[in-house]
Amino acid sequence: MSDFLPELRRRRTFAIIAHPDAGKTTLTEKLLLFGGAIQTAGAVKSNKINRATVSDFMEIERQRGISVSTSVMGFEYRNLQINILDTPGHEDFAEDTYRTLTAVDSAIVVIDAAKGVETQTEKLTQVCRMRTTPIIFFINKLDREGLDPFDLLDDIEKKLSVKVCPLSWPIGMGQRFQGVYSLYERRLVLFQPHGRQESDKSVVFNTLQDPALANHLGEKAAQQLREDVETIEVVYPPFERAAYLRGDICPVFFGSAINNFGVRELLDCFVDIAPPPLPRQAEERMVYPEEDKFSGFVFKIFANMDPRHRDRIAFLRICSGRFERNKSYRHVRLQRDMKFSSPTSFMASKKTILEEAYPGDVIGLYDSGNFKIGDTLTEGEVLHFKGIPSFSPEQFRYVENADPLKQKQFAKGLEQLMDEGVAQLFIRQSDGRRIVGTVGLLQLEVLQYRLESEYGAKCRYEPISLYKACWISSDDPKALQEFLERRKRDIARDRHGNWVFLAETAWILQTVRENFPKIRFRFTSDT
Ligand code: G4P
Repeated sequence: MSDFLPELRRRRTFAIIAHPDAGKTTLTEKLLLFGGAIQTAGAVKSNKINRATVSDFMEIERQRGISVSTSVMGFEYRNLQINILDTPGHEDFAEDTYRTLTAVDSAIVVIDAAKGVETQTEKLTQVCRMRTTPIIFFINKLDREGLDPFDLLDDIEKKLSVKVCPLSWPIGMGQRFQGVYSLYERRLVLFQPHGRQESDKSVVFNTLQDPALANHLGEKAAQQLREDVETIEVVYPPFERAAYLRGDICPVFFGSAINNFGVRELLDCFVDIAPPPLPRQAEERMVYPEEDKFSGFVFKIFANMDPRHRDRIAFLRICSGRFERNKSYRHVRLQRDMKFSSPTSFMASKKTILEEAYPGDVIGLYDSGNFKIGDTLTEGEVLHFKGIPSFSPEQFRYVENADPLKQKQFAKGLEQLMDEGVAQLFIRQSDGRRIVGTVGLLQLEVLQYRLESEYGAKCRYEPISLYKACWISSDDPKALQEFLERRKRDIARDRHGNWVFLAETAWILQTVRENFPKIRFRFTSDT
């Protein structure tokens, strides 16, 4: 039996995801305050770049030290080790968020009560659903006028194709907001603007028929609450932890992060129900966290924090076993053993060198260019963890070297920045031209800026009219060969050598799919 089981069971690793401005940074900060990981509000630097320009990005680059340390935030709460993985707010960096979601065991999705489900929420929740990651919703900003709570629940169920189960319920909203009734704890929690945990006023009500309810809320609001809760009990399924862990139902909480309201209820329930580190599927087999042998994968790389040294930090999620400093581990892709003398942990906002780490933990490994996203470390076994997909980009450009004297720097910079996941690179087979694909325009600027500032190379973009890049495969090698021949001009390879079809328009893609039924077209590289 593994001797680290108690440590393993103490871990809860999750991400908070949201459409920009819903309140992710604020909620993260309040959770850290409860955990004692920070002392004052404002300590978590928002890494969002909502009104994004490249100069905002450059500013963020300058503050990279900060963004690295807020990428993973650990704290202790009720004897659990909680690891929050931060996700970039800006949609142009959605791919970074998708990858981070492969490293968590559950997610909290923040929704703005006035806006309901927004586009980013939809996309990110889809990724969670693909992986059946358990989700809890936090509906934020109840101190402002928002949509009717039942309408919000309908919106979530319809747009996100999930079943919800409210575990708290708001009493009024905006000016009339009086607090929430926790259905999970059968407690009435009264709203106090800018409340602190000590001063939260809460009263246990096992039954809402208790006439004393009106003393706290007034007769009208008390009656409304009784009716709402009756409706909830009829319409929504009762909470069942197993169903939540399977991803079949998603608990919903209401609150106001900025006022620190409803956050404690969320956190207390989270620590009761959220899953400890879960098994991870590798191509070869399922890997269980309690296995004796260590394994983990890299899901994020921060490169070139100091331009004078080509240093990088690879973020590794531990999947099984115990990680130890200075022990030799196998880099599966390079088939090479490596030791790490200064692996870092990300407790609170300071980095410290760690001696040991356990499944669920995320550690930072200093690296001089050996890691790519998706790489695996083990104690010798050949394992490839699944589910670190590339997503079909939406913006495409030809990328050319603009300074013939810097060809080497250009090639190296392009390769390293692709390793880091800044963009995707496709090589068209008919003419060998390089095409970069990104989710948003900002990444193109970032690529250009970083090539120049970190590698001294200049790149030039040229327009190309493309609708989508899809990964193609077929169970019938002949059919695939025929397709590759027939559509020669639209075929490229990605950096791993996979075949990609470059569709110029949605119509072409549709026609091709109809004409070549034996070919599978995929919008992620990993399904
Ligand atoms: P994000 O990370 O999801 O992008 O959101 P963030 O926490 O930065 O919050 C976005 C804005 O919403 C911030 O206002 C924040 O103060 C506000 N906010 C967060 N929670 C609540 C809440 O419960 N109620 C209300 N009324 N507002 C909330 P801002 O004006 O953009 O920034 P700031 O100047 O306040 O920092």
